[in-house]
Amino acid sequence: MYDVASVRADFPILSRQVNGKPLVYLDNGASAQKPQVVIDAMTRAYSYEYANVHRGLHYLSNLATEQYEAVRGKIARFLNADEREIIFTSGTTEGINLVSYGWAAPRLQAGDEIVLSILEHHANIVPWHFLRERQGVVLKWVDCDANGDLDPQAVLDAIGPRTKLVAVTHMSNVLGTVVDVTAICKGARDKGVPVMVDGSQAAVHIAVDVKTIGCDFYAITGHKLYGPSGSGAIFIRADRQAEMRPFMGGGDMIREVSRETITWNDPPMKFEAGTPGIVQQIGLGVALDYMTGLGMANIAARERSLRDYAQAKINGLNWLNVQGNSSTKGAIFSFTLEGAVHAHDISTVLDKRGIAVRAGTHCAMPLMEHMGVSATCRASFGLYNTEAEVDALISALELCRDLFS
Ligand code: ALA
Repeated sequence: MYDVASVRADFPILSRQVNGKPLVYLDNGASAQKPQVVIDAMTRAYSYEYANVHRGLHYLSNLATEQYEAVRGKIARFLNADEREIIFTSGTTEGINLVSYGWAAPRLQAGDEIVLSILEHHANIVPWHFLRERQGVVLKWVDCDANGDLDPQAVLDAIGPRTKLVAVTHMSNVLGTVVDVTAICKGARDKGVPVMVDGSQAAVHIAVDVKTIGCDFYAITGHKLYGPSGSGAIFIRADRQAEMRPFMGGGDMIREVSRETITWNDPPMKFEAGTPGIVQQIGLGVALDYMTGLGMANIAARERSLRDYAQAKINGLNWLNVQGNSSTKGAIFSFTLEGAVHAHDISTVLDKRGIAVRAGTHCAMPLMEHMGVSATCRASFGLYNTEAEVDALISALELCRDLFS
C-alpha cells in the first residue's frame, strides 16, 4: 500500500481551495487530476524537446519520435499487448469510432446485429447507432439486473447467427460495476464473434491484461489515467487489424501517394493519420509510469478499501438512494435523494462546500432510462482520495437533506 498523503502532495491541484473550502475532488470518473511529473514532462517537451514525429531527420524530430514511440511500448506493457497492436488515439471515443468505421462499417450488412449492454457509455453506443442509421444494422440490448450486474451468459445468449460484434464496457461509469469481460470474450470467441471492450474506467482502477481477457478491441483514454486530455490508445489484435480499412486519411498513414493511387503504411501507423497528440502521449507515458510506480494492485486495493468505507457510511443513510449495488463495484457511487431534489441542485450545494461531483445523465442515457431516473449525482473516487473526503461528502449530503426536506 502507498502513502496517500505523499501521493496527494504529487497533485498540485489537490492543495487548492474551491469556494473557500479545501477541494474534495470526487469527479474522477469524468476526468482525473494530473501529478506534477506529468505537468513537468509536458512543459519540458514543449520547452526543449519539441518537434514533429516520424517526419524529420533532425535531432529534435528524432528525440520527439523516440519519446513518443516509447509510450507505445509503455501502453503495450500496461495492457499486456504487443506493441504493434497499440494504436494511438485522442481517447476512447476516437478508438471506438476507428473500430466502427474501419472494421465494422465495411463488413456489416443490413440485418446484421451488434449486441451491447445497457451499461454502455455513449462512446460505445453512438458509433454503433451510426451503423444502424446508415446501414440498417440492428442493435440488440442486454439489460443489467437490479444490482447493476451484467450476466455474461445473458450477453452470450443474445448472440444470434447474424451477430457480428459484441460491444461491452469493462466497468460502468455510472454504477461502478465491473463486468466479467473475460467470460464474455471466451463465449463470444467460441461463437466466432469479436468483442469490443470499453476500458475507459476499468483501466484506471484495475490491472488489465488483454491477452487474459481475450478481447479483440480494448480502448483506453489518457485523461482518466491521470494523463492529459487528447491522449489515449486502442488495442486492436493483429488479426483484426488485418481485416480493417483505415479510418482517417492523411500524412503518416500512407506509404506512397500518386495522382492515381495510394498505398498504406503498415499498422499501427496505417490507422494514425496526421500529426498526433505528441506531447499529450508523452504525458500519458509518464502518467502510466506514475501509476505502475504505485502498483495497479495497490491502487485497486486502496480504492476497494475506500469503497468499503464509503459503502458502510452510505448504508446508514436511508434517505439516499444509491443506484447499483454490485459486489464487483468500484469506488463509484451514483445517487439521488428522497423526494424531488434534482441532482443538479445537490451538486450545486456540494460545490459550495468545495466538493466536485458530476450530476446529470453521465453520457449513459439508456442506462438512466433503464434505472428509471432522469439524473443522478455521481461521486467517483481516484487513487488520491481519502476517508476524510468521504466524511466531507456525507456531511454535505446531510446538509442537502436538511435543506431540501
Ligand atoms: N465518461 C466520462 C464520465 O463518465 C465523461 O463522466
